[in-house]
This record gives sequence, C-alpha cells and structure tokens, in this order.
Amino acid sequence: MARATSPKTKSYQRERWATRIGLVFAMAGNAVGLGNFLRFPVQCVQNGGGAFMIPYLVAFLLLGIPLMWIEWGIGRFGGKYGHGTTPGMFHYLWHHPLAKYLGAIGMALPFGLIVYYIYIESWTLAYSFFSMTGKYMGIESRQGMAQFLSAYQGAVSNEHFSNIGTAYVFFVITLALNFWVLSRGLVKGIESIAKVVLPLLFVFGLILVIRVFTIGTPDPAYPERNVLNGLAFIWNPDFRALTNSRVWVAAAGQIFFTLSVGFGAIQTFASYVSRKDDIVASGLATAGTNEFVEVIIGGSIAIPVAFAFFGLEATREIASSGAFDLGFFSMPIIFQQMPGAQFFGMIWFLLLFIAGITSSVAMAQPLMAFLQDEFKIQRTTAAMLVGGLAFFLMQPVIFFLPYGFLDEMDFWIGTVGLVVFAIIEVVIFIWIFGADKAWREICAGRDFQLPRIFYYIIKYVTPVYLFLLLGFWLVQDGVDVLLMRNVQEANRVYIWFARFLMAGILLLMIFLVRLAWQRKHMIRQQVP
Ligand code: TRP
Repeated sequence: MARATSPKTKSYQRERWATRIGLVFAMAGNAVGLGNFLRFPVQCVQNGGGAFMIPYLVAFLLLGIPLMWIEWGIGRFGGKYGHGTTPGMFHYLWHHPLAKYLGAIGMALPFGLIVYYIYIESWTLAYSFFSMTGKYMGIESRQGMAQFLSAYQGAVSNEHFSNIGTAYVFFVITLALNFWVLSRGLVKGIESIAKVVLPLLFVFGLILVIRVFTIGTPDPAYPERNVLNGLAFIWNPDFRALTNSRVWVAAAGQIFFTLSVGFGAIQTFASYVSRKDDIVASGLATAGTNEFVEVIIGGSIAIPVAFAFFGLEATREIASSGAFDLGFFSMPIIFQQMPGAQFFGMIWFLLLFIAGITSSVAMAQPLMAFLQDEFKIQRTTAAMLVGGLAFFLMQPVIFFLPYGFLDEMDFWIGTVGLVVFAIIEVVIFIWIFGADKAWREICAGRDFQLPRIFYYIIKYVTPVYLFLLLGFWLVQDGVDVLLMRNVQEANRVYIWFARFLMAGILLLMIFLVRLAWQRKHMIRQQVP
C-alpha cells in the first residue's frame, strides 16, 4: 500500500490508547453527554414515562449493543489499515468506488453535530458561572428564566443581558477548550482528560441524586407531589403505549443519540484499539456505563425533582415545550427553593459541561483523524484547521438561533442522519463484507465465545429493525418536515439556509475524500 511505501509517511505513527481503562473512560466520555441529562428526561416524559422505558430497553438490546459492537469492529478493522475514519474503513470493507463516498457521511454527521452542540455546551459553562455568582437568583418563574435565556442568546434585550456578547465570550472559551484538548492528542488530550473529569461527573451526579432523594414532599398541600411518585412515573411499566409507533421511534432515536452510534465517531475511537483487545467487553462496558449514567443518574435528577415541585401535569408541559425548559428554566427555579441554591446550580451545570465536552471532542476527532491519516497533517495544525472551520460554521447557528436554525440541524443530523448512516454501515459490514467475517472481526481478541444468538441478532434483527424505523419515521414525520409544514413563513429562509449549510458540510467531506484518494493515487505512481 501507498502508506507503507511512501517515504513521507514513515515518520507518521498512529496513536494508540495508553490503557484499557483509559479507553473505556474515553469511550464513555464520548457517549455520556448532554443527551443523557437533557434529552433523555424530556423524551421519557414526552412519551409517557413508564411507557417509554420498554421500547427503550428493547432498542438498547437489539439496536444499541449490536451497533456498538459493529462500530467497534469496523473501527478496529480500519485502524489496522491506517484509517481512522469511515471513508477508508468502507473502502477496505467494500471494494467499490462508491464506498469511500458513503463513508464521507461518517465525517459529516459528527462534524455537523459539533456545529450546534458546542454552542449549547457553552451555555452550560456560562450557567454554572451564573449560578456561582448568583446572577439569576431572584428569578422565580420559568417564564422569567426563559426571558433570561432569550436575552443571553441575544434574541431580546432586558435587564439581564443587553446583547449576545456574554454568550459569545463563553462560546469562544468553550471552543478554545475543546481544541486545546484535541491539539494535545489522543492519549495526552482525550484520554487523560476523560480519566480526570469522568469520575468528577459521577461525584457531581451523586451529590445531585442525594439532594433530590432527600427532598421529600416540598409542598404539604400536594402530598402526591413527591420524589417517589416521580420515580414511579418512570418505572411503572405501561403496556398500553406499546402499540404506538411514535414511542418506538422516539425510544430508538434516544438510544442512538445517547450511545453516539450511527455517526462515525465510535469507529474513529475504535481505530486506535489493538487487535489483541477484547472489544466485545469494552463496547459493553461503554454502553453499560452510558446507560447507568442516563437511566440511573440522569433519570433520578430532573424528572423526579420536577415532579415533586410541579406535579405530573406541569412536568409534562415542561417536557413538551422543548429540550431546554427542564434543564435551563425549571432546574434553576427548583434550586432556588432549597438552601444552597448557588452551589447546587453550579454543580448541575458543571455536570452538564463535563458531559458535553468529553462528547464534543469525540465529534471533532473523525475530521482530525482524517486530516492526520490521509493528508499526514500535524496534530496541532489539524486542530487549528478543524477548530477554525467549526468557528466559522457556528456563526449562523449562534446568530440565527431564534429562527429555528439549531432545531433544523438537530432534526436532520441527530434524528434522521444517524439512522440512515447506521443502515449504510450495517449493509456494508454485515451483508457486503459478510456476516461471518464481520463476526470474526468483532470477536477477535476475545477469550470467551460470545453467545451465538447475537450473531443472528446482528445479521437479521438489527438490520430489519433499522429499516422499519426509517419507514415508520418517513410516514410519520418525514414529509411534514421536508415540506416545512410546521414552519412559520418568515422563518423558511433560515431553514433553507440551515439545509444548505448541512449540504455544504457533506459536500466538503466528499470533496476531501476525493482529494485524499487522488493524492494516494499519485503517491503510488511515484513509487517505482
Ligand atoms: N452521545 C452524546 C450525548 O449523549 C451525543 C452524541 C451523539 C455524540 N453523537 C455523537 C458524541 C458522536 C460524540 C460523537 O450527548
């Protein structure tokens, strides 16, 4: 291969994870994110609490875990050939010119996600600072907090913020922190940060869970509003909702998003794993950690506390009014009704920030790896290039946020894109490369045989499940969203802009893939 013969590439060594525990921490940091604490509670409440948890569990077992293993398998396979991103991986799995271009989606999705995710992440940093300084103390209603956030985002001007300046400063700090971590490399950056901050996340989570569990019944006038009933709402199974396809689609979507599968980012992390490692066990540890943090810790904070303070109906209403109401409006109000409001507010938002940053560095790593692996660009230069591009593309997200820009991106990337990409990778790995070879890739490095049933799940159940999901989704929402049926006339131009931006990101990735392959071709020709 060109890689081995090119004199220029001799000095280039792909990094490897330093320790196995570090690898699991980094992977868990990748998966555990804002999705666990903000998205999960909202999805759970919106879809009926106990009714949601059954399809959620089924999706975890039949989609989440199999896809985790598939992506670790694809990633390690590609790493063997020196490729840390899906274009190179697909190219070796399927010797067809189209394969590498399909792989470009696995760079466009995580990079497209970063463009809005880092902005939200920067709010959590800002809010933990505001909690510490007591900036929102005294705002006692959700409407008041909504006004606070609107002014922070620059949509309105009021006594809290007169312009977007503060938000912009926190955005720049957050972006710089991310790319500082990335410029330090895989082991010194991503792995060592994860080893420090992930334990901290558990400590913060535990503090909050204990606080929530000791609240009791905040308002004696409403004895039914207590933490126990909040937990019962999540944990009492409700079988009636099982016939509702919406709940199934939402549950599967949450599993995808929270495990970071269907994006191309797990594959990149897995490309730094050696063939001697047991990826079945590590993949399972990652998925298990994520679920523990999501369901046990995440599920024990926002929902029960909102339930105890506001009751079921209001909690439902909070969840239905979007992804940020619970985390950014309701939680600060609740904290202010207990002693130590500033402390608990700070811990809550710091928890979100830690969860966020270990995910956002993972979203940037595919493009970083591509520049390093395929163009032999130095790590720090790559970090500057990717960071600069992200900075540039984030401007419309920041300034057009009030017009639904972010929601549109989240819809295509965080809801549809991942299912489509998961279908592509499953077809290439399981059907084209071959289920038996894929199975051997996944099981290599393992001492104990994995029960054979998983082979059949991976080969038949997971692909069928994915196709059904896409089909149901298309029928339910696809057409409406595509035709912008629920978008106000005045906002359409921004929605179109968001779509062009996303198409632009995809085209850029396709172009880079093309460039990389042309370059490889030239290097090969130069070698006698
Ligand atoms: N799992 C992350 C969360 O829960 C979000 C995420 C989705 C992600 N896709 C990703 C993180 C790809 C890193 C890479 O918030």
